[in-house]
Amino acid sequence: MHKVIEPKILYFGTSVVLISTMNEDGTPNLSPMSSAWWLNQSCMLGMSRKSKTVQNLIRERECVLSLPSIDLIPAVDRLTLLTGSNPVPDSKAQRGYKYEADKFGVAGLTPLPSLLVQAPRVKECPVQLEAKLVKLHPFEEPSSLVAIEVRIEKIHIEEKLLMNGNPNYIDPAKWNPMIMNFCEYFGLSEQLSASKLAPVFGPDPVFIADHDGEGPREG
Ligand SMILES: Cc1cc2nc3c(=O)[nH]c(=O)nc-3n(C[C@H](O)[C@H](O)[C@H](O)COP(=O)(O)O)c2cc1C
Repeated sequence: MHKVIEPKILYFGTSVVLISTMNEDGTPNLSPMSSAWWLNQSCMLGMSRKSKTVQNLIRERECVLSLPSIDLIPAVDRLTLLTGSNPVPDSKAQRGYKYEADKFGVAGLTPLPSLLVQAPRVKECPVQLEAKLVKLHPFEEPSSLVAIEVRIEKIHIEEKLLMNGNPNYIDPAKWNPMIMNFCEYFGLSEQLSASKLAPVFGPDPVFIADHDGEGPREG
């Protein structure tokens, strides 16, 4: 039996990303977000233009996406309801947001220099992705939301997550992303079954050489 309902949000579960960008004064900003999805070497990020992060990204055209695992929930909590915007936009102030200049410090996270971009990586995150802005896709007006297409240019992975014998592959059994599911945090369950896609994109070089690189295919 299905019911027609009208929920306020449709956050069906995506991984939490910590985005670092550079402020005008050369200090870093760090913000949690979770409207992110991945295709090939690109990521699409859904955020409001009113956030400091988006303003920094438009100006600097680069960022770092650091992916926390579930043990970093307390750090993400400490970043929640903070903004790098000063003054705090009215709509945010009404929801209890406060300005914070030192988000790394408040979160207890360590900035680590990046190789290609100015924004720092988050040392404690097992996955750190240096990225460049490709294009902004605005939502329909008057929405302030934008889908931000970024290209991942440098990938840093905690060694423990790598597949044994295949240094260019992340072992999904070892990676436990932090998932935001309707504004609550979850991890992943253990693997349930083998996927037919895994041999196509997995570590077998024969299959890799054969596919067109344009993302998952049916069959
Ligand atoms: C777990 C989590 C996920 C979030 N996901 C998003 C998101 O996908 N898009 C967005 O615009 N804001 C999201 N937010 C809210 C931003 O973190 C918030 O707007 C923050 O003030 C942005 O900081 P900034 O203004 O310094 O960029 C999320 C917050 C948390 C704690």
